[in-house]
Amino acid sequence: MIIDGQEQVTDAVLAELARAKNPRFREVMGAFVRHLHDFAREVKLTEEEFQAAIGYIIALGKHTSETHNEAVLMSGSLGFSTLICLLNNGNNGQTDTDANLLGPFWRMHSPPTRNGESIVRSPTPGEALFVKAWFRDTDGKPIVGAEVDIWHSSTEGFYENQDPMQADMNLRGKFTTDQDGHIAFRSIRPAGYPIPIDGPVGELLRAQGRHNMRPAHLHFLVHKEGFKTLVSQLYSPDDKNIDSDVQFGVTRHLLGNYVRHESEPAPAADVTGPWYSLEHTFTMERGPTRLPRPPITGKAQGERPKIPILAY
Ligand SMILES: [Fe+2]
Repeated sequence: MIIDGQEQVTDAVLAELARAKNPRFREVMGAFVRHLHDFAREVKLTEEEFQAAIGYIIALGKHTSETHNEAVLMSGSLGFSTLICLLNNGNNGQTDTDANLLGPFWRMHSPPTRNGESIVRSPTPGEALFVKAWFRDTDGKPIVGAEVDIWHSSTEGFYENQDPMQADMNLRGKFTTDQDGHIAFRSIRPAGYPIPIDGPVGELLRAQGRHNMRPAHLHFLVHKEGFKTLVSQLYSPDDKNIDSDVQFGVTRHLLGNYVRHESEPAPAADVTGPWYSLEHTFTMERGPTRLPRPPITGKAQGERPKIPILAY
């Protein structure tokens, strides 16, 4: 089509898209083109702004490597990842869901660990935490024999793979649900941590005057044939950034039920001082049982990363 003016451009592109054989491709790309063109018309995008936008897309790629995914970080920082999660879980956005963001730090092959054991594998300071979790189907029946991966940061805000000071697979473990669909483990309370700000995500946050912190959380990935693989996080309600997560991941349903115990004896004899318990029941929906692609594959060498923190 030979174009006579700006008002014809969108129709010209949509007419070519109509040739695509795949109907879902036509639907998604057609809507994308319409919204993209309408967006440019609405804000009257200038040529300088257009060049800047192209520069951002290039920078997302340049800041992405085997150990860091700037595109995922940008998607989270715009709330897009959480929107996609909530649209696709909880009966397609109709009910509360335990589904949440995967984040960049899941590793495959966490060490198999027996129920009740600790996932602290090298000396790691922190308040003792005893977690009990139950896994149910949508009818409330226990899910027996599900594999549950756990991972979380240290009290210094580092995952073991970022931190040469921690043993390989520290604060990670793979549990199997028992006859009651239950697992239990011991660890330490995690801390929140900053996301990197040396790329376009940092520019985005600075432009808004936002901090770059995630509130403290525990990660879960639950795998059982016949159920949609559940990726979840439980958040610490007392974290000072609980209502301003840079990745917009915190949902009310996933505020962890932490209880602080001052005087009761802990479940383990070596605990001195206060300790915490945390209990949660997860619901898994029926669906395809697929593991995500692991975002990272190995453990950092050398120095701990130095990630600056933006004021809020
Ligand atoms: Fe995390």
